[in-house]
Amino acid sequence: MTGKIYLVGAGPGAPDLLTLRASRLLQQADAVLYDALVHPEVVALARQAKKIPVGKRCGRHSADQQFINKLLVETARQYPVVVRLKGGDPMLFGRAHEELEALTAVGIFWEVVPGITAASAASAELGVSLTRRGMARSVAFLTHRVKAGAPPSEWLAAAQGADTVAFYMAGGTGPQVAAALLQAGKSPDTPVVWVESASLPEQRRHATTLGRFSREPPESPQGPALLLVGEVYRECLAAEAGNSSGDRTDTVADGQTAEKQSGQKRSPTICPSASPPAKAGP
Ligand SMILES: C[S@@+](CC[C@H](N)C(=O)[O-])C[C@H]1O[C@@H](n2cnc3c(N)ncnc32)[C@H](O)[C@@H]1O
Repeated sequence: MTGKIYLVGAGPGAPDLLTLRASRLLQQADAVLYDALVHPEVVALARQAKKIPVGKRCGRHSADQQFINKLLVETARQYPVVVRLKGGDPMLFGRAHEELEALTAVGIFWEVVPGITAASAASAELGVSLTRRGMARSVAFLTHRVKAGAPPSEWLAAAQGADTVAFYMAGGTGPQVAAALLQAGKSPDTPVVWVESASLPEQRRHATTLGRFSREPPESPQGPALLLVGEVYRECLAAEAGNSSGDRTDTVADGQTAEKQSGQKRSPTICPSASPPAKAGP
């Protein structure tokens, strides 16, 4: 007996951003292999499944891609319905192709279920369209992490060619990304927003300019982080300036908590609670 593998996007973090199809498959699953960033409540939907954590953050140093590919094949040979749960959308920076290739090579059937990618979740919370009409006609989902030996020009050219850029896997290296963009001629005045743990209660955001970001990076990220760059974020700079001058009461990272604390209903705003990570709390 050989089962079928479903490569399922678990979304950016918040469990209720899972698709209905993903939820149904998890309830039917006999085995689930899941990444470290997947929310425990999502994994728990697979009530009857054998649950197998994969991914480096699970303390498994040797969980390299080949190991995961092999495990996927072995699991499909033992269980009829296998879900491979990945953070965000499996087809974006998710190494989905390697896994699908490994399955295809040995004749195992597979299906991909899309998920909400981190940049979409961050944009939803900011209320800023990645392709705001009249301002941005193109958006690039990029990572500056290139194969050892590859030149940075690969991603720099793409970043310069797009109106809005969402940098994935920029946690810890955001300032280097900013410095490279500046060196390549991007204006220091370009607005950027640093978004950590989008969609989750512990999220933190910080709006600034590219120049300032390269000199004053956020504190070490505690969760997955995106660096969003582009003119569409200019309103976020104004919102953050309002925050730090005390014009607004919602200077904590979690908007709901801010509301509860102040006892007031917030008025609708673009880029709400874009507070500096240093002041984030509670
Ligand atoms: C290996 S990539 C996987 C991306 C995923 N497939 C997606 O579509 O979002 C992991 C990176 O995604 C970004 N990321 C994932 N979840 C995030 C979140 N909740 N908030 C901010 N960034 C996130 C971070 O840049 C992180 O380093």
